[in-house]
Amino acid sequence: MASGRGPTAETGSRLVSVPLLFSALFLSSVCSLEIDPLLYEEQLLWVSGTQGEVNTYRIPLLTFTPQGSLLAFAEGRKMSASDVGAKFIAMRRSTDKGSTWSPTTFIIDDGLKPDGLNLGAVVVDEEVGSVILVYTICFHKYQCRPSSTMMVESRDDGLSWSPPKNLSVQLGVKSFAPGPGFGIQKRYNPAKGRLVVCGHGTLEGDGVFCILSDDHGRNWFNGAALKSIPYNQKKRPQDFNPDECQPVEMTDGTIVINVRNQNTYHCRCRIIVRSLDGGLTLPVDELFFDEHLVDPVVAAGALLKDQVLYFTNPASDAHRINLTLRWSLTDGKSWVDKSVQIWAGPSGYSCMTSLNSGSAEDRKYIFVIYEKGHKDYDETVSFAKIHLYGGR
Ligand SMILES: *[C@@H]1O[C@H](CO)[C@@H](O)[C@H](O)[C@H]1NC(C)=O
Ligand SMILES: *[C@@H]1O[C@H](CO)[C@@H](O)[C@H](O)[C@H]1NC(C)=O
Repeated sequence: MASGRGPTAETGSRLVSVPLLFSALFLSSVCSLEIDPLLYEEQLLWVSGTQGEVNTYRIPLLTFTPQGSLLAFAEGRKMSASDVGAKFIAMRRSTDKGSTWSPTTFIIDDGLKPDGLNLGAVVVDEEVGSVILVYTICFHKYQCRPSSTMMVESRDDGLSWSPPKNLSVQLGVKSFAPGPGFGIQKRYNPAKGRLVVCGHGTLEGDGVFCILSDDHGRNWFNGAALKSIPYNQKKRPQDFNPDECQPVEMTDGTIVINVRNQNTYHCRCRIIVRSLDGGLTLPVDELFFDEHLVDPVVAAGALLKDQVLYFTNPASDAHRINLTLRWSLTDGKSWVDKSVQIWAGPSGYSCMTSLNSGSAEDRKYIFVIYEKGHKDYDETVSFAKIHLYGGR
């Protein structure tokens, strides 16, 4: 890192006065002292291939709850590792900040459908104290039709779940795969209190889409769309094809969506697009490519905590390996020139959360759930507790 800066620093030191140089060094060391993430604890929540009725666990989601618990979810793929096929939604719950977890419960079983369910986005409504899980069934329309967007809700901290509700009655039956990751409840205006769940479509309508609810998940309507080009047509390499995504709300009320760049348009890196109107539109003026966030085409994690934006993905332009945590002190305009490797080996999808009681303890940690393996990234789903201040 320092060597990359070498020539500039050397030329600079001849020109810049000693006090100026000193204060620059001092400032940068203060910044790096503040956030110094440490992989503090890690445990495997699910292991593929060993647990009864499930062949493969994939697509992990993680959320806080209004009561301060953590809920982890994953697809339990019954027959194979394929995206298509019959599945459970598996859940585990922790009431002690991730130290111990309940046994797995299967909160949804799609039967033995040829094209079952897919996760999904979990969204917490802090105003009414509920947790909502949005998922899709028959997304690929493999031997089934139409595709439906579904939701279940828990009002008791994840202990019990409502029967599934079919959101496609209001939204239509276009294939929509939420997340994977979390949805948000707007904390700031515009549209304070709104639930925003973003995801992607498939061939007959691919791109990034957001669905919105202004009444705590009772009614939903279609919001922003960032359509692929060419829309509704088969894609070629390097076409514009925004895909799986993770929205984050900034403290100015802007929604920043970090998007998988499916056909590596422009770069092997993340697409970033912002909504300034609470998820109603995603204007092209608000889109850029973050060349710093090199990506192998995958679902990634993003989280804002105490004004710091965090990002996790397998940091590689070609392979799902090297799960890495980065952070930005400028709302994603730049990234700190350090990173923390969480796992060097095969690693895939990731999702982050944190507890936000405001207590000194809760300010110290963020939590990451990710696909982790030795030979293949879908061997296990792992939970990592990250101490943000180097264990101090
Ligand atoms: C959901 O609703 C849509 C639109 O009414 C319908 O076509 C579809 O079959 C429903 N899906 C399920 C699983 O009931
Ligand atoms: C892992 O990510 C870090 C941070 O971007 C990078 O410096 C390193 O080269 C990566 N390693 C591999 C094997 O890609």
